[in-house]
Amino acid sequence: MSVGAVFDASAAGFAVWTPLLWDPVGAATVEVVGPRPGERVLDACCGAGAAALPAARAVGPGGHVDAVDLAGALVDAGRDRAPGVAFHTADVTTWTAPAYDVVTCVFGVFFLPDMDAGTAHLLGLLRPGGRIAVTTWAAGSVEPLVGPFAQAAIAEHAAAGNPPPAPLWQRDAAARVDSADKLSAWLAEVGAGDIAVRTFAHDVAVTPALGWELCVGSGARALIDGLDRAAVARVHERYLTDLAVDTFAIRALIGTGVRCTP
Ligand SMILES: C[S@@+](CC[C@H](N)C(=O)[O-])C[C@H]1O[C@@H](n2cnc3c(N)ncnc32)[C@H](O)[C@@H]1O
Repeated sequence: MSVGAVFDASAAGFAVWTPLLWDPVGAATVEVVGPRPGERVLDACCGAGAAALPAARAVGPGGHVDAVDLAGALVDAGRDRAPGVAFHTADVTTWTAPAYDVVTCVFGVFFLPDMDAGTAHLLGLLRPGGRIAVTTWAAGSVEPLVGPFAQAAIAEHAAAGNPPPAPLWQRDAAARVDSADKLSAWLAEVGAGDIAVRTFAHDVAVTPALGWELCVGSGARALIDGLDRAAVARVHERYLTDLAVDTFAIRALIGTGVRCTP
């Protein structure tokens, strides 16, 4: 399944986690990068508009926000929530538009087929001096919730004689941006200047049922692709038993920089 198809299928679980995870991190990202009234903003890999909505509020009626994502189901959800935002079902790696003042990309860069080239493209969409905010996961934040899901899915694939499932995200890429130092160094590598990284920390109480919604409502869902209904039901059952945490310690890194090159 393609990235867009996985996230289309994830829409119900994604919606469950919108007020708990996606919206708070999107709002924090926008607060850090600070779009000003009248500015042009691109929310790349926008999902259901977690960053696009607060960005639209910040730029006001004189500004403009484009929100771009491959998953039409999430884009439709965003459109329902934010009529003032221009949502597009499209690939950000080939997106072009008149220069932006601000680009945000929240939990998106590690899904791009080439994280460096894709992010360099996003930087190139900024005017010189324009600001980018790239938000990533801190190491270890997601594993307690998604790890038991991955283990159960891998066991079912093995039992069915399938090859091990490939994660949707580029695993090596995510590990290159999973600490403040690494994110900062990588933003410099892809050409950003004036870099700063903040940590977003927020603890959310989780039940196994809620944890399951995150697994099937995010990119992790790709791990059950190719399993039949009975196998997915066994993954579900095992997950409900195996989840060992009752808190999701959300730890995200918000990296900001500016486009220096003319
Ligand atoms: C984890 S979600 C985050 C969504 C949103 N930024 C948020 O924080 O709520 C990652 C999103 O990236 C999108 N995505 C991945 N690769 C993309 C690409 N090349 N172009 C556009 N969207 C992409 C997926 O469809 C998915 O909606």
